[in-house]
Amino acid sequence: MERGESQSSVDPSGDAGEVADWADAFDVNREWWREAVVYQIYPRSFFDSDGDGIGDLRGVEAKLDYLDALGVDVVWLNPVYDSPNADNGYDIRDYRAIMAEFGTMDDFDRLLDGLHDRDIRLIMDLVVNHTSDEHEWFRQARESEDSEYRDFYIWREGRGDGPGGKGKPPNNWESAFGGSAWSYDERTEAYYLHLFDEKQPDLNWRNPEVRERIYDMMRWWLDKGIDGFRMDVIDLISKADGLPDGDPDSGWTGAEHFMTGPRAHEYVAEMYEEVLEGRDVMTVGEMPGASIEQAQQYLGPDGDGLNMVFHFEHVTLDYGESGDRWTVGEFSLPEFKRVLSKWQNGLHGEGWNSVYLGNHDWPRMLSRFGDDGLYRIESAKMLATMLFTLRGTPYVYQGDEIGMTNFPFERESQVQDVSARNFVQRKREEGWETDEILEIVSYRSRDNARTPMQWDDSENAGFTEGEPWIPVNPNHDAVNVADARARDDSIWHYYRELIEFRQATPAAIYGDYELLLPDDPDVYAYLRTLDDDRLLTVLNFDEGTPTFSLPGSVDYDDAECVVHNYAIDAEGPQSFEMRPYEARVYELD
Ligand code: GLC
Repeated sequence: MERGESQSSVDPSGDAGEVADWADAFDVNREWWREAVVYQIYPRSFFDSDGDGIGDLRGVEAKLDYLDALGVDVVWLNPVYDSPNADNGYDIRDYRAIMAEFGTMDDFDRLLDGLHDRDIRLIMDLVVNHTSDEHEWFRQARESEDSEYRDFYIWREGRGDGPGGKGKPPNNWESAFGGSAWSYDERTEAYYLHLFDEKQPDLNWRNPEVRERIYDMMRWWLDKGIDGFRMDVIDLISKADGLPDGDPDSGWTGAEHFMTGPRAHEYVAEMYEEVLEGRDVMTVGEMPGASIEQAQQYLGPDGDGLNMVFHFEHVTLDYGESGDRWTVGEFSLPEFKRVLSKWQNGLHGEGWNSVYLGNHDWPRMLSRFGDDGLYRIESAKMLATMLFTLRGTPYVYQGDEIGMTNFPFERESQVQDVSARNFVQRKREEGWETDEILEIVSYRSRDNARTPMQWDDSENAGFTEGEPWIPVNPNHDAVNVADARARDDSIWHYYRELIEFRQATPAAIYGDYELLLPDDPDVYAYLRTLDDDRLLTVLNFDEGTPTFSLPGSVDYDDAECVVHNYAIDAEGPQSFEMRPYEARVYELD
């Protein structure tokens, strides 16, 4: 038995599935997507059904019982549309077709039915800030200035003199993946805008025809029966008038001119009216730049109609001073608590939070916020306790439920992600040593989260019978689903029990949030209160043994510890010494 196992426990205060019974007793604004737990599937790396080394839709279908056993309510599927894969599917060639590597539309329909048969809903990635340069619209647009699709994208002349008569790029905006956000197209001697890779040209949302085509496509998918969308970089769709130069010292040059640009709210509100209104669906907008005030405007009954946003504030706190992803700064727990609490309170009554610590764009949450060595099990459970007891809809990224960790990069050739590859290239040109480059890549690369799901301890972790498209993490001999499911006290069972606990505990979903001990450098503690129901969560984010003391303002007669990741004694919650990465949730009476 591994250390840290067999002593944790979650004690649901009711039976899962009885949500409908309890919640009506409270005066809360019930919505299924508030009560749901979302599981994110990166299909390329989930399960390969045909031995080509690439995960696919039949692979997801083969694991439906797994999802059911875990108890999740919604699956968010990363893009599965036809794509040349410059950015792993975020460069769409055909919005109404399935990527050949992933299967067919029939496979998709079967998967959707299989999910619905198990009462699991499906939300799809909606990538409409840009298309692939191989999309039919762009292929035609680049042919001629007279093309009917020319104005579907953003074209400009070069500025001043430049090499070969091209001029310089029309402004100083940067691509999120490095370099200029403009590429020159020889055919029509003009630049086109791409906030991401040059193979991801930005759509021109000012053009009503573009918007209508997008809305039509969205209706088509919803009519098929999907249950909503995760909207990729949806706060970037409106660009400032005149495309002015940006501040070169901000982390992403130009961002102030395209993050929630002048018409962003108008477009999102229009999308809501044209497509979403009156449909029982869930929407979550990915918004790298959203402030709380902007988020409030996107959300809620008086907002633009979205249900939730993914803001980036808590996942960018450890950037260096320049605000650039590829720099590493300090992580401070008080700062982390301040940011999360700001969002917890700021969206109260004005929207709803999504609660996440990682996804396919970030390193593994365990390696980043926990400890992926000695305290892997304890810290994975501690972070899960946070995910399921904050106010908001929790998102579980595939593999986090077994405590998957970052990949031990040894060679530059192991780097796959376009963003990381560009970084490696830039740093090589600047003369950095391989070791220095790999140190940052190991910490930051999106590849960390994209290594294959670890199903068992066989050669390719049970992910494929072929050659995996991206290396499998060598720790799959110890970290895998088969092992985790066989141990009652594993991270996996802790997740399963926490999911049940949340579904059965109204205060965990709808309770008010109150931060305790804001300045404590190691302990994150908060209360959730719904009428007379009170939950106290206490989390040790450190490998030390700090003492937790409950502030005198919190009184109670009785306390029962209902979630814990270590064996507990009678101590607490008044004052107790915490063990490394310990987590406890008390019900206070
Ligand atoms: C989002 C996606 C990311 C992608 C980018 C461009 O941030 O999550 O994976 O590279 O948008 O589409």
